[in-house]
Amino acid sequence: MNKELSCVLVTGGAGYIGSHTIIELFNAGVQTVISVDNYSNSTEETYARIEAVCGKNPVHYEADISHPGHLKTICKAHPEIQGIIHFAALKAVGESVEKPLEYYRNNLDGLLHVLECVAEFQIKSFIFSSSCTVYGQTSVFPVNENTPLSEPESPYGYTKLAGERIIRDFAVIHPEIHCVLLRYFNPVGAHPSGLIGEIQLQKPNNLVPIITMSAAGILPAFSVHGNDYPTRDGTCIRDYVHVCDIADAHVKALRFSQSEVQTVNPEIFNLGSGEGVSVLEAIKAFERVNQLVLNYAIGPRRAGDISAIYSDSSKAEKQLQWKPAYTLDDMMASAWKWQQNLGK
Ligand code: NAD
Ligand code: WQD
Repeated sequence: MNKELSCVLVTGGAGYIGSHTIIELFNAGVQTVISVDNYSNSTEETYARIEAVCGKNPVHYEADISHPGHLKTICKAHPEIQGIIHFAALKAVGESVEKPLEYYRNNLDGLLHVLECVAEFQIKSFIFSSSCTVYGQTSVFPVNENTPLSEPESPYGYTKLAGERIIRDFAVIHPEIHCVLLRYFNPVGAHPSGLIGEIQLQKPNNLVPIITMSAAGILPAFSVHGNDYPTRDGTCIRDYVHVCDIADAHVKALRFSQSEVQTVNPEIFNLGSGEGVSVLEAIKAFERVNQLVLNYAIGPRRAGDISAIYSDSSKAEKQLQWKPAYTLDDMMASAWKWQQNLGK
């Protein structure tokens, strides 16, 4: 880590990816991490978990970034902030279809307020959580950062596409602020300690939490959403990437954006393992690694699912020196370890 990088603000720091990133920031030598969260999809207990893993606790504020003024007050109190990593957003695809205005309000107002602070307080780096959802259904694999984007299926997806556009326009008038858009594929798993991971406050929608909750008996069974896709075993293909690798990429993106190495603004990176894994392959990996048998059945397709997507992450490898360190087996083992710890 650059010696000069000593203070970073993280929005959504009590959430799944934010909390793992805070641990990586501390491990990389950042002295002060400030977390801002309204706990709409997390709890304050996350900070004790962070401390249990790395012995450090972020300075934390309960605040809603979609509210004008809240973040500004915090930034005013911390003129030492050098970079903001912006995770805070609502992220449930299905819920966004039911509550589109809530999603647009929270995710877009939130982003606008963060950018206003970045500009007002002349914060050098801005890192944005984008998503592979901006690519939609594509027919050429793997997808790289130049793959054309398509109309998102959901209001959630649209907040990411619009967010990217807003940041592009912002960067034109603020070339002094280095912006990085990170397009995550499917972040899964938990810290290898099993002490921290994703907390499900709502009904789970994503495959890996559904698998672990079903293995724990919290869900009686689950469905594989369709086996008639044009893929090798008929089930959908995704690019699962360990949450600690995603966290590590943020530290590297920050380091990159603090330096003059960044010449394109905003710069965009895909973050995926580069490996396409089918739903059945993911299930089998979980069963094999954890020596368990899952209770599932083939069901109908889920509306809005694309048949396949996986990443070409070579740009992040070249420019950020980022390469995933964890395997699919690590993802499945850590996800289960965390689920078991949650039950204690
Ligand atoms: P998460 O829900 O675990 O974390 C988001 C955090 O932001 C939560 O702690 C929530 O309480 C907080 N938050 C939401 N709105 C807020 C507001 N208005 N003010 C303050 N805090 C607020 O989600 P995550 O999985 O950690 O995702 C982090 C980011 O990454 C999100 O922007 C998400 O869209 C994006 N992303 C996630 C995935 C994924 O599969 N997890 C994939 C691609 C992109
Ligand atoms: C993975 C595969 C399902 C549950 C979502 C968002 C995307 C991004 C990542 C934020 C699919 C199948 C799932 C189940 C199943 N998030 N599945 N049975 O849909 O790739 O992406 O998270 O930006 O925007 O849409 O992830 O984990 O929901 O599904 O068969 O009970 O598992 O159909 O093929 P998805 P997922």
